[in-house]
Amino acid sequence: MGAARSSKVKRNRETATEENAVRLKLRTLNMEERGNQQKQEEEEEEEIVCLDASFFVDDNYKLTNFTFGSQDIELFCLHSASTDFDLTGQLVWPGAMLLNDYLSKNVKMLQGCTVIELGSGVGITGILCGRFCHKVVMTDHNEEVLKILKKNIELHSCPENISSISHELVAEKLEWGNTGHIDEILQKHPGGFDLILGADIYILLCIYSTQSSIPRLFDSVKQLLRAREGRKCKFILAYVSRAKTMDSLIIIEASKLRMKMKEVTGTRCIVGNLEGVVFEVTLE
Ligand SMILES: C[S@@+](CC[C@H](N)C(=O)[O-])C[C@H]1O[C@@H](n2cnc3c(N)ncnc32)[C@H](O)[C@@H]1O
Repeated sequence: MGAARSSKVKRNRETATEENAVRLKLRTLNMEERGNQQKQEEEEEEEIVCLDASFFVDDNYKLTNFTFGSQDIELFCLHSASTDFDLTGQLVWPGAMLLNDYLSKNVKMLQGCTVIELGSGVGITGILCGRFCHKVVMTDHNEEVLKILKKNIELHSCPENISSISHELVAEKLEWGNTGHIDEILQKHPGGFDLILGADIYILLCIYSTQSSIPRLFDSVKQLLRAREGRKCKFILAYVSRAKTMDSLIIIEASKLRMKMKEVTGTRCIVGNLEGVVFEVTLE
């Protein structure tokens, strides 16, 4: 009985030692595996190049001079686009050249007015209006673009330039179709605006995205036109044609929202190598 018990104890001990050996081997294998995995991860990490968001943003703005009739405007802008297509606002577009030419020939229509500009970019149109208008609110949805817009407003509000700016000039964030943004702006500027301006502001999302921004743009325009409560307000759009489908799309979208678009006589011309025209958009 005593011998049988001692051989059972011996077998148990042997089994325990074998199990420990297996466990040890498994642990060693796991550690090796983990080591290999870690090595692989380190190698992979070395291959990953971490690009900061700023890599895609060119903010090497150049102080640039533009002339529209008797009006000279100097401001910061890029001369070519950043990698990110949503940064189109860093440049001055042909639509702004067309609109500024038209406005500089018709400054009477700006005198003493309140203006809101949609998709202002670097602010060349709003800054021109600031010389004649009572108040100009320049808007954009892009944070990077808003930065350079504010810098240009500051530039034109500094003592050397203050004489050319007659009245209030501000920048606000406005994403087309965002009712909250419009409500905030209308709370700050009750009674709305005499003029809504837009230059080259319909192109990019239609080229780069399957979702057109035009319905959202016109939705915001309609809200702003309505905010005048019967008093006169119009949307002046400098349109540069880049695709035949777009030419008809803007007219269709405006009429869907019961707005009429009228071509301003004498404004159809070539800007750069494209055809441009100024439209006046009002509620039906
Ligand atoms: C082609 S740029 C024109 C800039 C300027 N008006 C000009 O003609 O030089 C279009 C502008 O619209 C702005 N934009 C584009 N989509 C927008 C949106 N959904 N809401 C508000 N702004 C937008 C862009 O950030 C950009 O500043």
